[in-house]
Amino acid sequence: AAAEKGGFETFMRKEIHEQPAAVADTLRGRIDETGQIVLDEVRMSDQDFRDVDKVFIIACGTSYHAGMVTKYAIEHWTRIPCEVELASEFRYRDPVLDRSTLVIAISQSGETMDTLMAVRHAKDQKARVLSISNTVGSTIPRESDAVLYTRAGIEVAVASTKAFLTQLAACYLVGLHLAQVRGIKYADEVSAVLDELVAAPGKIAKVIEHLDPVRQMARDCAAAGTDRVLFIGRHVGYPVALEGALKLKELAYLHAEGFAAGELKHGPISLIEDGTPVIAIVPSPRGRSLLHDKIISNIQEVKARGAKVIAVCEEGDRITSAHADLVIETPASPTLLAPLLTAVPLQEFAAELATALGRDIDQPRNLAKSVTVE
Ligand code: G6P
Repeated sequence: AAAEKGGFETFMRKEIHEQPAAVADTLRGRIDETGQIVLDEVRMSDQDFRDVDKVFIIACGTSYHAGMVTKYAIEHWTRIPCEVELASEFRYRDPVLDRSTLVIAISQSGETMDTLMAVRHAKDQKARVLSISNTVGSTIPRESDAVLYTRAGIEVAVASTKAFLTQLAACYLVGLHLAQVRGIKYADEVSAVLDELVAAPGKIAKVIEHLDPVRQMARDCAAAGTDRVLFIGRHVGYPVALEGALKLKELAYLHAEGFAAGELKHGPISLIEDGTPVIAIVPSPRGRSLLHDKIISNIQEVKARGAKVIAVCEEGDRITSAHADLVIETPASPTLLAPLLTAVPLQEFAAELATALGRDIDQPRNLAKSVTVE
């Protein structure tokens, strides 16, 4: 069993460490020398992609968080309206779809019942379905019109890590491809982002090399008897906050919640007591500095109420280090790609905190790797 885990204590730890390779594998062969994205295996022509006038993303759990990030990316790069919805909600209502709607179904296992039913619901309305899955030949890809496989390899731990990062990579490829075939005005930006995407595995590896401080913070939280952790973020930092909270719920059985930082004053701020840990996902101070300013004021707001702020920020972000109690630095990256980096310390944080509490992080109670029932 130890050999299966490649020298790691748990599958989850092994899978966290496999992320740079998993992302690199998922990108391999899908970007040609001229910087064009080639998705031949997807069986959708450039014309099919040009005909799309609306995108609907459906998924559950961690895959849904990948979908949320994708919405920000697709709308920014392509200007095509994009909605993202939990499969279990989508399937029981009357979403407005037609032949020119592209439905992207994200499912690691390819077997999640709600996502499968949502795919059927979309197909009944003639929408075209592209699935993003890690499992070749599974049901959702088989029932979809097209599929783009992630290449994370088998993910054993119940809590998703490497599958999530590869879903992001695959979704970025789809978004950038949509932009390229439609000749969108952001051509320069698209090629710059592609270069950054190719550089992402190296940066993820760097994040993984520097997880010791995160582990220490997690052990300190466990030792302090922390009973709740709040996560805040804006823009793509918001789904990362949700994912960080989900990991902690799944693994540590702690009350963890992610919020859009702008919503703090509409309720969540009342949860903060002296010493409550708040993990803030801080966007790059470069470029969209407005977002950065906003999250700094959110950090000040929660600190004024006694929160202990751990900020995940870009390396060298002095403003954030001056305001937060602790910082976790990640390499610089374009805003939309940052989740590939910022999600990683949150995975480790949850794994370490849960381990300190004596939990079985590969097999958390009450959870299944694949939810094939309703
Ligand atoms: C379960 C798993 C999660 C996963 C979700 C969706 O809840 O424990 O890790 O994100 O199902 O699974 P899927 O295979 O459709 O991505």
